[in-house]
Amino acid sequence: MNQFDTTHTVEHNFAKSNPNYLKAMFGTTDVMPLWIADMDFEIAKPIQEALQKLVTRNIYAYEFNTEEAFKAISDWNLKRHQLQLNPKSFVQVSGVLTGIGVLIRELSDKGDGILIQTPIYHQFFKVIESAGRKVISNKLKVVDGHYQMDFEDIERKLKTLNIKIILLCNPHNPIGRVWTKEELQKLIHLANQYGVTIISDEIHSDIVYSKSQFNSISSLESSENHIAVLGSPAKTFGMQSISNGYIYIPNENTHKQVKQTIGALYLDHGSIHSVNATIAAYLKGEEWLDDLLGYLEKTMIWIENFMQKELPEVTLFKPEGTYQIWLDFSKLNLSDDALKHLIVYQAKLALTPGDWFEASHAQFMRMNVASPLSKIQQAFHQLKKAIDVGIDCSFNEAESNNNCRSC
Ligand SMILES: Cc1ncc(COP(=O)(O)O)c(C=O)c1O
Repeated sequence: MNQFDTTHTVEHNFAKSNPNYLKAMFGTTDVMPLWIADMDFEIAKPIQEALQKLVTRNIYAYEFNTEEAFKAISDWNLKRHQLQLNPKSFVQVSGVLTGIGVLIRELSDKGDGILIQTPIYHQFFKVIESAGRKVISNKLKVVDGHYQMDFEDIERKLKTLNIKIILLCNPHNPIGRVWTKEELQKLIHLANQYGVTIISDEIHSDIVYSKSQFNSISSLESSENHIAVLGSPAKTFGMQSISNGYIYIPNENTHKQVKQTIGALYLDHGSIHSVNATIAAYLKGEEWLDDLLGYLEKTMIWIENFMQKELPEVTLFKPEGTYQIWLDFSKLNLSDDALKHLIVYQAKLALTPGDWFEASHAQFMRMNVASPLSKIQQAFHQLKKAIDVGIDCSFNEAESNNNCRSC
């Protein structure tokens, strides 16, 4: 049996299955939780061992180990992504969103525009708006069933709106694109032309499937003056609750500026648990990650085959990276409320509603598939059954439009 097939007891304190969260967000606790982007898999042993070593200590004194962490991150990126990173260009933060929040404040002013490519990770809206900056939405286009960047719209917006930053997500959550060198090069070209900084959130960079290749924005030519990259071992190794992150800024002056601000706020202190777990993950977690990627890839193939045969009315955007799948339910011809009812109360699934990633995406759902295959199969069988039955009588009749086929 594969190690990732094991079903583990889910702690009710975990956000994904916390009854209070489920009730608040989905209106019921009677759902299989496949929403927040973390994993149901047992953590890699070397990470657990590093943490165990720390908790058996008698003294929990101040301890900083960032230099070793930065070296481990650099070595990992060289090995996994052929990416040369200078260990001196990092700044430690407690998580990627913290890093983005600081960068936005350092590299733009209140009222400035920050361009994001929607649909996108919903926290990006909050991190921009809470800093008093404006969200400028550049919608991704679907061409031949494939999401693409809309460069014409980006250029029009860079020309006419007061945009200081492009906040890139690569690989992109929720649509799973892993941006190609050509796409990134075009984006850099536009950013340089209009004097805009690219902040690249690369937290999902290690979850990339065999047909795709991850390219960091920092690996591309003429990008070093106007970029900041963020990363973390959280998504790669399922370390969300012991969050740790880093910012990588190749430009010396910008690095100094950001490091000073982060130092002044003491955001770089971190916890030795997170730091040593990060080091263990990057130094000793590679085999576990390769096994995970193989497992997820098989899960994706199972999903694709099942959907082709059993759910042709739902469109799957098969991800090139991330363990999220993006599903389009618009062919079911249900109202937005009816779709939510069908998924939550009939299929009994807690998926992330598409309108979290931008209001116009209410006919989409994101499903997190980093769970044992048996659980994902169960979820798809529940989904198929609900779709076969159609919207049922428990849904508000006025809304259901006489679509009820079960009564
Ligand atoms: C693109 C992206 N950035 C950042 C985060 C959160 O990172 P952190 O917990 O390190 O702030 C997530 C989590 O889902 C994410 O998908």
